Amino acid sequence: MADDKKHKTLTTGDRTIPPEGAKMIAIYIMGREYMVPETLTIMKAVEYAGYSYVRGCGCRGGICGACGTFYRYIGDYRLRSGLACQTVAEPNMVIMQLPFFPANRPGYDLDDFTGSPHEELRRLYPEVFKCVGCGTCTRTCPMDIDVMDYIALMKRGDLKGAALKSFDCVMCGLCASRCPAQITQFMAAQFVRRAYGKYILPKAGHLEKRVEEVKSGKYEKLLDGLMAMKQEDVKKLYVEREREPDLAEPGKWMPKETNNL
Ligand code: SF4
Ligand code: SF4
Ligand code: FES
Repeated sequence: MADDKKHKTLTTGDRTIPPEGAKMIAIYIMGREYMVPETLTIMKAVEYAGYSYVRGCGCRGGICGACGTFYRYIGDYRLRSGLACQTVAEPNMVIMQLPFFPANRPGYDLDDFTGSPHEELRRLYPEVFKCVGCGTCTRTCPMDIDVMDYIALMKRGDLKGAALKSFDCVMCGLCASRCPAQITQFMAAQFVRRAYGKYILPKAGHLEKRVEEVKSGKYEKLLDGLMAMKQEDVKKLYVEREREPDLAEPGKWMPKETNNL
């Protein structure tokens, strides 16, 4: 347990200025004890302790998945997981951020499938079909995704279900790091979402139309005009642009100026 007399407060690398009288807590980063102000995220606590991130940190907003982290509390056998930028550091946390996880990343070309998307999944990620249903991946996922369930949907051939269920995955790799069947769930799920988008989801007619318009050069003149403008004028144009209201009903709102649509 932390004893304030024994521990030196570190401030190197600090990007956080704790308020006067902030309570300091002991945490353990890669096995070494540090005193940090309470209420910081693990990421900020690690920086407060003097480390600087070169990798393993991206958006700081729970989106990029770069900061998957494992931790235990002293005296508690349970291994827990979270994103370092989203999980608040608590007293007696023993923390290890996963810097990288080597994933199975077979090459494939979505335009060159030899079988159905499900057969391609079987060819590229045969390990998916070895899932033993232990549920460790689901318990590990910091995004609260039912990973085991999307793997089960993949096995069953319900690629739409697997694509939708895995949609919030941030590719942190924590699930794969604990899978006894050595499945790289997040890469298989990425493949499934791509295959779903290309082969299963109905084509969006309006998107095809727009792609044709772009290819036909409809916007070239407009883009040339923008490229010729001064930077300040482009910024002004952007700031003064007509914006879609936040609560507009989908598909109902149209701008007043429609010449450039
Ligand atoms: S499914 Fe796996 S890789 Fe995706 S967010 Fe959850 S734990 Fe991370
Ligand atoms: S951890 Fe692996 S074996 Fe266990 S349920 Fe998840 S995918 Fe299946
Ligand atoms: S830094 Fe991007 S999810 Fe944590």
